[in-house]
Amino acid sequence: MRLDVVTIFPEYLEPLNVSLVGKARARGQLGVHIHDLRHWTYDRHNTVDDTPYGGGPGMVMKTEPWGEALDQVLADGYESGASGPVLVVPTPSGRPFTQELAVELSERPWLVFTPARYEGIDRRVVDEYATRIPVFEVSIGDYVLAGGEAAVLVITEAVARLLPGVLGNAESHRDDSFAPGEMANLLEGPVYTKPPRWRGRGIPEVLLSGHHGRIARWRRDEAFRRTTLNRPDLIERCDPEVFDRHDRAILAELGWRELPDGRFGRPGRAVEE
Ligand code: ADE
Repeated sequence: MRLDVVTIFPEYLEPLNVSLVGKARARGQLGVHIHDLRHWTYDRHNTVDDTPYGGGPGMVMKTEPWGEALDQVLADGYESGASGPVLVVPTPSGRPFTQELAVELSERPWLVFTPARYEGIDRRVVDEYATRIPVFEVSIGDYVLAGGEAAVLVITEAVARLLPGVLGNAESHRDDSFAPGEMANLLEGPVYTKPPRWRGRGIPEVLLSGHHGRIARWRRDEAFRRTTLNRPDLIERCDPEVFDRHDRAILAELGWRELPDGRFGRPGRAVEE
């Protein structure tokens, strides 16, 4: 996979040299190209922003540097044999970044990121490139960052670990919280390692039993507990078909009841949309 990032803070992307993404680069599984947007400015102050039409606070990133930068980044990528680029535009107004979207992006051969500062990029830039290549406007959460660079790091890490051969164990993402599949989408429960006692705290007996069936069941029960506590919306959204008899028993214990439409809810609590 090839990644290009155009930014006014190239040093913000340094973490892409470290850990999982850094190793994937070193192994040649990922080619990362960071570009300084100011390279495509021609005035003394390397201006990349201007005041918004219609007034209002803040500044808007200008069309010309972005247009020239993206034209050249795309041309250079094609020249070196890359194909099938998609533009990934981090913005709090984008569609939510989910594991499903991470999987979708991991199947693309070439991602071009345009992290913005200030109030965002002049709309015409996205409109222009959307006529040429697929564009994904993506938000990493319901909060506003000072810029899109941190979102690029988040998206890149979630995508890179899905690339074939990047994680040691091919099965490691099968059990991820939010892994797409026919299973219920539950949060992963707690995990433990040696020593068996720490500050007077032991580990759940079942994990020492060597009984794989009981261990899997315990893990699923814990996943229901954690999900009930932190993300009850995931249980409300579940297709009840995926719940077996034991799931239904643990859900009942946690206060869930089957609703007339077959889904699960907890009496006395509003169902979140
Ligand atoms: N830029 C600023 N806030 C953002 C967010 N929540 N997600 C993606 N990009 C952003």
